[in-house]
Amino acid sequence: MRTFLGLDVSTTATKALLADERGAVLGVASSEYPCDAPRPLWSEQDPRLWWTAAQRALRQLACDPASVAGIGLTGQMHGLVLLDAAGEPVRPAILWNDQRTAAECDEIRRLVGRERLIATTGNDALTGFTAPKILWVKRHEPAAWAKAKQLLLPHDYVRFKLTGEHASDKAGASATILFDLARRDWSPAVVSALGIDASWLPRTFEGTDVTGTVTPQAAAATGLRAGTPVFGGGGDQEAAAVGTGAVDEGVVSASLGTSGVVFAATRRPFVEPQGRLHAFCHAVPGRWHLMGVMLSAAGSLRWFRDTFAPGEDFEALVATAAPIPPGADGLVFLPYLTGERTPHPDPLARAAFVGLTVRHTRAHCVRAVLEGVAFGLKDSLDLMRSAGVAAAAEVRVTGGGAKSALWRQILADVFGATVATVSAQEGAAHGAALLAATGAAAFKDVASATAAVQVTGRTEPTAASHAYRKVHERFRDLYPALRSEFAKASDE
Ligand code: XUL
Repeated sequence: MRTFLGLDVSTTATKALLADERGAVLGVASSEYPCDAPRPLWSEQDPRLWWTAAQRALRQLACDPASVAGIGLTGQMHGLVLLDAAGEPVRPAILWNDQRTAAECDEIRRLVGRERLIATTGNDALTGFTAPKILWVKRHEPAAWAKAKQLLLPHDYVRFKLTGEHASDKAGASATILFDLARRDWSPAVVSALGIDASWLPRTFEGTDVTGTVTPQAAAATGLRAGTPVFGGGGDQEAAAVGTGAVDEGVVSASLGTSGVVFAATRRPFVEPQGRLHAFCHAVPGRWHLMGVMLSAAGSLRWFRDTFAPGEDFEALVATAAPIPPGADGLVFLPYLTGERTPHPDPLARAAFVGLTVRHTRAHCVRAVLEGVAFGLKDSLDLMRSAGVAAAAEVRVTGGGAKSALWRQILADVFGATVATVSAQEGAAHGAALLAATGAAAFKDVASATAAVQVTGRTEPTAASHAYRKVHERFRDLYPALRSEFAKASDE
């Protein structure tokens, strides 16, 4: 029997997952590493940690190397890895959650023109993306810049160690914002406007294409078979979407992890006119996607629990909010605890409870947190509609927060749509394995590879849906009203 590996180079660990020819999961292993914050707003990691962790996770998984017919790669998106001529990192990688590049984002808008940038790449310049990180190194670290010869994303660094190839997948590469979204390749116009040497850029491949094969050295380091094909894969969000079956128009998914992501696959490169949604290539050939990223989703509930109910179990805490009426008796929570990306690309945005009175209890606050996160996700759904994506009758929810029946009900009521749970639990590494299996012809296409994903439950909107429209309007008015106060708070 042939097997397929998915490798996910995430922010906290590298995870290896083994699947059989039908896509069923046979085993998982992972190896963790820390993340450095050498200064406020910075987030970095030594790329060598990813390769060591990948070797460890692969050895732990102890699969039969002769049966592995393909490896799919995925990982944290947008991270900048710069290598010298000998293939060594010239500095630590700058990660997706690093916020140091506000000035470089302005510079990109000036050099390319904001409208042209959005029309070509699908996106405005955001601190999380790769391109501003490149300009930051150029400006602040001339010694590292002088040594740089090659630019890669985190999982492409592991690909380089496995295969010796400088290659990237189209999904990951499009999230650098150096990409021509419609052409699915680097944009010579944007690359040259930013003064980036085009020879630094890796070749790009579809998620199901072979990007290289495991070298004898990598085989000795990992226990894999030399010659095993390594497929393109995609960023962790695209690979996770493959895992949940969000591979074609009509399926919209929302994940409630620490961050919250609303994801819609599209058949054309849709763009939100003001660049408030991310528009990237999908890991599925010939598909694109729109994505809204909220930085503190289930992370908001975790913060609330850790701060006001330490040690209490999530289920018990959430249960206290069930008797509180929709709208939490006038209390609204803005969930911008770690700044925000969608719909407010603002690292200085802050969270707030607005409307507190003596009548409000801790249970009201919990309800307001659950509702505030739902409103934030609804903002992304509304932007998708304004970009031309048909309203979704059903939204597939995943992630830790989706385990709560009350939160699912609030989501269904706020979205005004059915909320469905799915059987897929394994996330991005599973999606990467399915992309490799499709590339190796175990499936006719990616949609067939995800046919096994089952809807396990549905939550329908209730009469509360109507009441939530008004509360959502109040929620939407609060960020513009408070923005200048948030900026002042960050000065302190
Ligand atoms: C997506 C994003 C995050 C990282 C985290 O745009 O920045 O999801 O990929 O792993």
